[in-house]
Amino acid sequence: MSIALVVLAAGKGTRMESDLPKVLHRIGNAPMLHHAMAAGAALDPEKVVVVAGHGAEAVSAAAQDYMDEAEVAIQSEQLGTAHAVAQARTALAEFDGDVIVLYGDTPFIRFETLEEMARARARHDVVVLGFEAADPGRYGRLVTNGDRLERIVEFKDATDEERAITLCNSGVLAADCATLLRLIEAVGNDNASGEYYLTDVVALAVSEGLSATAVVCDEAETQGINSRPELARAEAVFQASARETLMADGVTLQAPETVFLSFDTALGRDTEVEPHVVFGPGVTVENGARIRAFSHLEGCHVSTGAVVGPYARLRPGAELDEDVHVGNFVEIKNAHLSAGVKANHLSYIGDADIGERTNIGAGTITCNYDGFLKHRTEIGEGAFIGSNTMLVAPVRVGSGALTGSGSVITEDVPDDALALGRAPQVTKPGRARKLFEILKARRADLKKDG
Ligand code: UD1
Ligand code: CA
Repeated sequence: MSIALVVLAAGKGTRMESDLPKVLHRIGNAPMLHHAMAAGAALDPEKVVVVAGHGAEAVSAAAQDYMDEAEVAIQSEQLGTAHAVAQARTALAEFDGDVIVLYGDTPFIRFETLEEMARARARHDVVVLGFEAADPGRYGRLVTNGDRLERIVEFKDATDEERAITLCNSGVLAADCATLLRLIEAVGNDNASGEYYLTDVVALAVSEGLSATAVVCDEAETQGINSRPELARAEAVFQASARETLMADGVTLQAPETVFLSFDTALGRDTEVEPHVVFGPGVTVENGARIRAFSHLEGCHVSTGAVVGPYARLRPGAELDEDVHVGNFVEIKNAHLSAGVKANHLSYIGDADIGERTNIGAGTITCNYDGFLKHRTEIGEGAFIGSNTMLVAPVRVGSGALTGSGSVITEDVPDDALALGRAPQVTKPGRARKLFEILKARRADLKKDG
């Protein structure tokens, strides 16, 4: 059965009090739209249509950023959820199969739940995802009879008796594409909100002799996001579940509640993460690496056996090969550190290529920026960069070369050479003692004068 996803994302999200469309607010550093699309992507859909309205340009860009082939249908006026799905009509014109409607602001629907809906679809024409609500509030209520779903009534239109129902509508719905589009045609807006309700397709289907049913999932899955506090709670839910997933996959998190992950964080088996580590977007860590406390990583790759931190910062383009050690207060950006490189203390390495086993002394800095352009630093294999070396890029230090501590290296250093770029030392015997005596006498004079 081929599947098309229709993701509703046209709403403004008034309660977010934001200039950003609601579905672009981030959970785990990814727009919540990506989370919704990812849930559906697990069904391997033939087509993905995102219905955008408020901030349509930005929403389209985000949709296509997640999935090149995603199509965008524009709903310029938000006249209701049925009207929103109707905007996907052109995109679905050639499509033959099932449509699953998801909301862009409901990021936690599990793949297994969607699979269960697909199974229920084999027996029923329309399948709606419901949940038993602890507080049913203003959700639409599912009116059932045995395993049959008879209709959905919106809170505003419900009688007291219907409001007492606790089985609520999540908004996720599955039906054959042609059937769904035909039923939507018949949906009117004669209701308390004056909107075209997608929920009305259930009663319309039943009145035609088609069958509808509800699949019930956990309330946590259907949690929508409408405000900043809900966004914060969703972030916490995401973090908790991402940590559990990693641990289930064999990653050690010493203090899981202090480790912050992104939607795309990938950590390999037997990697150990100490407390208080932040993984920004785009981080992959291979098996058996160690990320020590208080480190901050984004857009980087860490290989097996590498040790990062404590207090290290890996910025986009940091590529650490096997057994690299990056220690405290070391920042790496857009730089490739080959196997066995050590940069253990207080350094900035940006726009650089460093050969195997090279040692970067404490305080070394690549001076990569001249105020206008960035330049690269290249260091060969097995070199030794003395403490506090300034590498003024573009510059190359050869394999097996040595730079003296405190050197400012402005010219290339050949393989196996020693480069010294610092003021020669001058030593004056006995001068310190004499100087101290003079200063001591001066201080005594000052005291006497009051
Ligand atoms: C909807 C359901 C309700 C359900 C609830 C679950 C209807 C009529 N009601 O109500 O039964 O319990 O969701 O959260 O479907 N959207 C558009 N275009 C529109 C209207 C909405 O794209 O014209 C999008 C919104 O951006 C949002 C989603 O559809 O992502 C749901 O819309 P919303 O207005 O929040 O629906 P509810 O009134 O909450
Ligand atoms: Ca809502």
